[in-house]
Amino acid sequence: MKLNGKVAIITGTSPNIGGGIAEALAGAGAAIVAVDARSANADHCAAAIKAAGGRAIGITCDVTDEDAVRAAVQQAVTEYGQIDILVNNAAFFNQKSIADMPYSEWRAQNSVILDGAFLFTKYVTATMIPRRRGVVINVISTAGHQGQPGNIAYTTSKAGMLNFTQGAAMELAAHGIRVVSLTPTATDPGESAERAKRWNMDLGPQPDYSEITTRFAKRIPMQRLPKPSDYGAAAVFLASDDAAMITGTDLRVDGGAVARYWGWDPSDS
Ligand SMILES: NC(=O)c1ccc[n+]([C@@H]2O[C@H](COP(=O)([O-])OP(=O)(O)OC[C@H]3O[C@@H](n4cnc5c(N)ncnc54)[C@H](O)[C@@H]3O)[C@@H](O)[C@H]2O)c1
Repeated sequence: MKLNGKVAIITGTSPNIGGGIAEALAGAGAAIVAVDARSANADHCAAAIKAAGGRAIGITCDVTDEDAVRAAVQQAVTEYGQIDILVNNAAFFNQKSIADMPYSEWRAQNSVILDGAFLFTKYVTATMIPRRRGVVINVISTAGHQGQPGNIAYTTSKAGMLNFTQGAAMELAAHGIRVVSLTPTATDPGESAERAKRWNMDLGPQPDYSEITTRFAKRIPMQRLPKPSDYGAAAVFLASDDAAMITGTDLRVDGGAVARYWGWDPSDS
């Protein structure tokens, strides 16, 4: 398997995208450190991977708490001896416009996305530098490539993460560490519901996904939405030696969404 003997930290391991990436990396042979501010998301992810025959631990950690991040990285090294892969995935959604968003919420959302990625990259790559190997994968969004109205902090921080990827890639290339990003888009909700059930998690009342499953699916050039496992397969590739010469690059797993000419609506043709 492509990632045998590797150890991966993934932040934000809900049954949706982080969980899908964690299961894909584990399926390729990596030991998983599932990190989440919500202990249920860390622990259920790790338990599911162990139940499937893999190696995993869950760590409850707020990615914006520097002491907690340092301790989580130390715990991962104590448990597995090394870290080879970091996936900066933790985020939260809070769609508000400039006019409606309180400053405190702007700071909080930017902080989870950008400060969280900065802190985990700082402390994980400090353990990778002496080994002269490692890969960091930052999870973006098509909203980080385009101007989405009414989602100002998210679009701003995700765009920031794109160039964080390039800057970090330049700093770390000489140390044998690659830094890349992966861009998901509106995601088919079916697989995450199935994963939550398999992980014995009750997600409670869910948002209305009808806009995603109908209107969004029609506008995407491939006419169907990606699933978390599609992102997981891309993450396995990016983390593996198959991508040994890829750094500072973004891999869009978006069914063609960002490449689409703005005036063309694929549902018209
Ligand atoms: N769902 C989508 O359609 C979509 C589309 C494009 C990009 N993305 C990106 O994919 C990633 C995962 O999204 P998702 O849909 O799975 O979201 P999600 O809400 O299901 O998962 C995000 C996880 O991050 C955790 N988290 C939030 N704040 C944290 C903190 N301070 N410290 C530690 N963990 C924290 C949450 O508890 C949760 O488990 C995010 O980076 C998101 O921006 C999602």
